[in-house]
Amino acid sequence: MNSIVILISGRGSNMQAMVEAGLPVAAVISNRADAAGLEYAAGRGIATAIIAHRDYATREAFDAALVRAIDGFRPDLVALAGFMRILTEDFVLRYQGRMLNIHPSLLPAFPGLDTHARALAAGVKLHGCSVHFVTAELDHGPIIIQAAVPVLPHDDEVKLAARVLAQEHRIYPQAARWFLDGNLVIESGVVRVKGDHPQQLYAP
Ligand code: GAR
Repeated sequence: MNSIVILISGRGSNMQAMVEAGLPVAAVISNRADAAGLEYAAGRGIATAIIAHRDYATREAFDAALVRAIDGFRPDLVALAGFMRILTEDFVLRYQGRMLNIHPSLLPAFPGLDTHARALAAGVKLHGCSVHFVTAELDHGPIIIQAAVPVLPHDDEVKLAARVLAQEHRIYPQAARWFLDGNLVIESGVVRVKGDHPQQLYAP
């Protein structure tokens, strides 16, 4: 049976969406002991682990500990779900092609932090979220699926974030399912899904 290890740092609502979608989640690992998502996972009988970055002197040492924890579950897929750590190149290369991330913007727009505030400040009329394969460059990598939402005249960061998050919960389980079913093909950095599956959503 194929399986997923999900890395979180906090709330874990994307992790929860994957569990509720019936995906085979083997374990949830957090770099923070106070990540709210850990309690949800444990309550569902899913293995949890805490690898606290503060316990490690270097990024390399932290990533090595993370590798040991992940590989103990022998996952087919590693899913970053609000995992707020910059990863070393060695770590990324180890899981290249089998590690996904969800990012709250229509990449390549707004990589990094504070995406909703930056989208509002830029005056974009569409915003959204992207699921992509993880590569060494932060918030880059072949895009699997994106969801767009309108930016409305009276939006603030909270309203816009909530509208985007609802779509994150739709596209991340979908992307993970495609991956586990062996339906994703990357050609020259472009991801295509076998069969006739739309790789974009618009949620007005
Ligand atoms: C989500 O909005 C996710 O897209 C974002 O953090 C949030 C985590 O929420 N990730 C990033 O910004 C990564 N660059 P969650 O813990 O409820 O899934």
